[in-house]
This record gives sequence, structure tokens and C-alpha cells, in this order.
Amino acid sequence: MRDLAIHFRSLDGRETVKAVDGVDFDIRPAETFGIIGESGSGKSTIGRALVGLLKPSDGTIRLDGRELAELGRNERRKVRQSYQIIFQDPHAALDPRMTIMQSLMEPMRIRGGIRDAEMREAALSSLVRVGLRKAMAERYAHELSGGQKQRINIARLLPLSPRLVVCDEVVSALDVSIRGEILNLFADLQRDLGIAYAFIAHDLSVVAQVSDRIAVTYLGRFMELGPTESVMERPLHPYTEALLSSEPRPLPKHLRPARRIELKGEIPSPVSPPSGCRFRTRCPFAANVCAATVPSWREVRKDHFAACHFAGPDGLDHAAHAAGQPRTDEWRIE
Ligand SMILES: Nc1ncnc2c1ncn2[C@@H]1O[C@H](COP(=O)(O)OP(=O)(O)O)[C@@H](O)[C@H]1O
Ligand code: SF4
Ligand SMILES: [Mg+2]
Repeated sequence: MRDLAIHFRSLDGRETVKAVDGVDFDIRPAETFGIIGESGSGKSTIGRALVGLLKPSDGTIRLDGRELAELGRNERRKVRQSYQIIFQDPHAALDPRMTIMQSLMEPMRIRGGIRDAEMREAALSSLVRVGLRKAMAERYAHELSGGQKQRINIARLLPLSPRLVVCDEVVSALDVSIRGEILNLFADLQRDLGIAYAFIAHDLSVVAQVSDRIAVTYLGRFMELGPTESVMERPLHPYTEALLSSEPRPLPKHLRPARRIELKGEIPSPVSPPSGCRFRTRCPFAANVCAATVPSWREVRKDHFAACHFAGPDGLDHAAHAAGQPRTDEWRIE
């Protein structure tokens, strides 16, 4: 993704909702790329753009180095097979009138070029691969538990040999007791098949558990992006610190932030985001420069990026903050 922006018309058609407003990232082969942020920060919109369900208003999407917008219709269809998405509600994706076998065969039928017998064979082996019995193929979705349905949703994609699967809040609707099993299944499939995931959730502890890198999203932009351990243990951005502080479940001691930052108020409207740094209306460290200038996106530590005027390698640089001297220019990489 390069400079990705996705703008929507508001319902009354009079305003522009800047759901995603300039994000830049790569997802590496077979990695889990976590995306967190409060509800409304643009996570699902990024996810849908990743699999070609939404057309960017600006910026480019490249798949294996090829620009999606420049591919012909047939080729784009073929390429898009490798980029799939699974949603939060495990039931919504399954047609209640179809047997599980029919649901499993549907994506292969749409792709075409495969005989019925082969499709059945592939469907059954996917079913077994996700830890379900073959007999389940004759059942209907309403006879299955939430966890089983989410397994079927994964099984449906396997015959398409996906390279990237966007997982949008895939365990949020499941009982805590079965979340672990489903997350383990995702991890097994990644190890065996080399699938990359874009793992979207509003729950920081779930994302941290599964991700290699984490992107912290706020109001249509990334605030921070880096290796999970680095983001969780030594965050660079006040928003990430605030999310860590607001974790409802106690984090392991080494992950507990040194200070608590309470996140006050609501996320502003994506129709008219605050000037300068978008987080400034809720940031306890906001200074004059934060309203005047958009903080640049900089590599503050190795492979660890942040957009904050006062971010230094050890987090917020209090000396720079006290002196009113942004570090932005010193570290600019462009
Ligand atoms: N089709 C749409 N039309 C208008 N606004 C939308 C549409 N889809 C999403 N939005 C708005 O874009 C913003 C980001 O939404 P979304 O990507 O769903 O956030 P998240 O997944 O982080 O909760 C929200 O303000 C949402 O209301
Ligand atoms: S740029 Fe300013 S307002 Fe934004 S996070 Fe940094 S200190 Fe806070
Ligand atoms: Mg969402």
C-alpha cells in the first residue's frame, strides 16, 4: 500500500468521510500484520481495500510488485483469488440453505476450471485440515457452533491457495474459551502453507499474541508501526501508550506501561479531522507545533515507525517536549 486513501460520501451526500487518509505499508510473505485501533479508526476499510473490495480514492495497491489498478479484468480476478477476507460474524458468510459441502465448494465453483469430484475431494481434505470430521459436510450452518463455523470459513479458502488472508475481528464474537483454538489453527496454517495474515482487532492483547508486527491506527492514519515486542514493550507514540493503559485484562508485568495515559473523550469525526497531529485533541503532550504541523512518518528505531513530533528512540522525548523543539526534522527519512 502506498499513500492509501479511501474517502466515502456521507449518507446525506454532503460530506466526505476520510475513513483512510494516507497509510503506507508492506505486508511481508507469511507474516502476521496486526492492525489495532479504536472502533471507527479505519481498520476494516484498510482490510477491504487490501483484498480489492474497495477502490482507493488515492494511492496504489501492489500485489507481488504489480499494480492492481493496471491489471486487466481477467488477470485481476485471478490475482485476487490469492487475497481473501474472513469477517467477524462467522454465520454471515455461510448460506443457511446450503450444506457445509456446498459452502465449501462454492469458492471453487466461482473460480471454475475444476470438476465436481475434484471439488468434493478438495472440500473434504480442507475440512479435515481445519480439524473437523468429514461427516460435518452434510450438516447445515445452523447446526454448528461459532467456532466450527469460523473453521468452515477458513476451510472454504484453503483450496484457493491464498497468499494473504485478511482476518477482520475473526475471534471477537467467539467465546474466550475457544478463541485460543482458532488462533492456534490460524498459526498452524500459516506455518504449513506460508499464508500471510492482516489481523485486524480492537483488542490489543489478541493482536499482540498473534502478530509479528503491529500497526496502530487512529482516525484513518497509522500512528505507529513496528515489531510486536518493540511496540508493546517500548511504544513510541502516546496513543499506543494510551491503548496499553486501557487494557481491561492485566498485562504481564513487563508489558505494563510505565505511566498510565487515560484516553479521554471520543474519537473526532473523520469528516474534519483535527489539524496537525490528529491525536492532539486527546493527547496529554500536545504542544503548539502539534496543531500547526502534521508530524512526519519516521523510522525512529530500526523497522519501527511513528508519527509524533516528540518521539525519540526511547519513547516520548521529554527534553525535546519541554524545550518545545520537535524532533521531527532531525529524524526525517524522506
Ligand atoms: N460505506 C461507508 N460509507 C460511509 N462511511 C463509511 C463507510 N464505511 C465506513 N465508513 C466510516 O469510515 C470510518 C472507518 O470505518 P471502519 O473502517 O469500519 O473502522 P473500524 O473497522 O476501525 O471500526 C468510520 O467513521 C465509518 O463510519
Ligand atoms: S505529535 Fe503532539 S499531539 Fe501528536 S502524539 Fe505527538 S505530542 Fe501528542
Ligand atoms: Mg471494523
